[in-house]
Amino acid sequence: MTTECFAPAKINLTLHVTGQRADGYHLLDSLVVFADVGDAITFTPAPEMSLKVDGPFSKGVPCDGRNLLWKAAELAGVTGHLTLQKNLPHGAGIGGGSSDAGALLRALDCDNAGLALGADVPVCSYGRAARMQGIGDVVHPVANMPRLFAVLVNSGAYVPTPQVFQALAQKDNLGQEDMPQHGADFTQWLHRQRNDLQAAAITIAPDIGTVLAALAACDGQNLVRMSGSGATCFALFDTASTAQAAAHKLATAYPDWWVKPCVLS
Ligand code: C5P
Repeated sequence: MTTECFAPAKINLTLHVTGQRADGYHLLDSLVVFADVGDAITFTPAPEMSLKVDGPFSKGVPCDGRNLLWKAAELAGVTGHLTLQKNLPHGAGIGGGSSDAGALLRALDCDNAGLALGADVPVCSYGRAARMQGIGDVVHPVANMPRLFAVLVNSGAYVPTPQVFQALAQKDNLGQEDMPQHGADFTQWLHRQRNDLQAAAITIAPDIGTVLAALAACDGQNLVRMSGSGATCFALFDTASTAQAAAHKLATAYPDWWVKPCVLS
């Protein structure tokens, strides 16, 4: 029997870096949500492992034991044929392989949240809005997350995560304020929070600044920020139609960019 799963883009609406452990890993405080755009995975049990990757971002994705999806199957103690339709840019601050691995662990009801595969895998194996703390290993579910209309943009810039953390000027920043109880205050609250990696990522890939400026110039946007360690950025909108209009304009003005209107929740 084949299991089908959807690996959504992971978006860090906030990403506060609050410290660094002796082993070099950073302490995080992040509000993570998931999009209705993502990669598509199938898994069919078989005695041997195999992985076939296709889709618009399949180039450069390993089809063997180096792939996090393959590693997730091993962690779950299963073997079989995997297919991965790579619809999302990878190494891009929106989950990439972590979301693929997390989606498979979730679909297989695996008890292991997958921290050994990467700091983002536990929140991705949970797969719903959550406040992520520790180095990514502490995942608190967030109830009543408002649905958000967004546009995701990636210019193709690549920023290696370790390099972004290294470029961080200050590592002991304040954590997130507690989230408001009422949806109406949510955007104001979000404005007061940060992505502490954003300025560091821009020093490595100045393109990210160009993307943020283009998103900031869109009619109807009410927040613009980078996700994860970059380079993907997002803008939030009040309605699906303003998000779609902004996406259309950006895709026309910047045909080389990956531009996706979506719903976050
Ligand atoms: O765990 P993952 O493979 O996603 O992390 C990639 C790199 O990002 C780590 O090797 C580390 O340099 C950095 N990182 C960190 N603190 C975290 C998560 C990642 O320093 N909490």
